[in-house]
Amino acid sequence: MIFDFAHVAQIAPSCSNNQPWRFIFVYKEEQLRKLFTTLTPHNNWIEKASMMIAVFSNPKFDCAIKERQYYLFDTGFAVAFIMLRATELGLVAHPIAGFNEEQAKQILGIPEEMRLITFIIIGKHSSKINPVLSENMKLGEKQRPPRKELSKIIHINEYGNNLESQ
Ligand SMILES: Cc1cc2nc3c(=O)[nH]c(=O)nc-3n(C[C@H](O)[C@H](O)[C@H](O)COP(=O)(O)O)c2cc1C
Repeated sequence: MIFDFAHVAQIAPSCSNNQPWRFIFVYKEEQLRKLFTTLTPHNNWIEKASMMIAVFSNPKFDCAIKERQYYLFDTGFAVAFIMLRATELGLVAHPIAGFNEEQAKQILGIPEEMRLITFIIIGKHSSKINPVLSENMKLGEKQRPPRKELSKIIHINEYGNNLESQ
């Protein structure tokens, strides 16, 4: 499975083909337990996960065009590809931001100059809803949360000309 994920991440597009993404696949129980201590309290559902993928990069690894820094954008592509592949394999892949970056970097030995951007939590589907989930999260398990109207996010030909005015 690790090679599956690694290969789809490898083919993601990146600015000047810089490939700024780096990953640590963590599945050793002892190491997972250490990482669980870095999670924010509402992320305690993760304690049932069988693998956490640490996703990190360095702003210097990728294009910066004035203030447009592409390392996060390009690494996001690689993450999305891994999520799609996990879904294809029948697994659940969930990215998170709720963790203590400094603590997690120390546990994993990630050098100071790197940004630990996310963990992708990998697990199996379960027919039982985890009781530690908040009411909102339980709802989200049954039905994906609402999306903004298309007219709020799409503009046609110029800013402010949205779908409603077509
Ligand atoms: C950058 C990012 C950070 C996220 N952080 C968390 C998190 O810390 N904990 C969590 O339970 N979900 C987290 N999520 C999941 C989002 O809450 C979820 O994708 C969103 O509510 C939409 O739900 P859906 O993906 O089921 O459609 C994160 C998603 C992204 C893209």
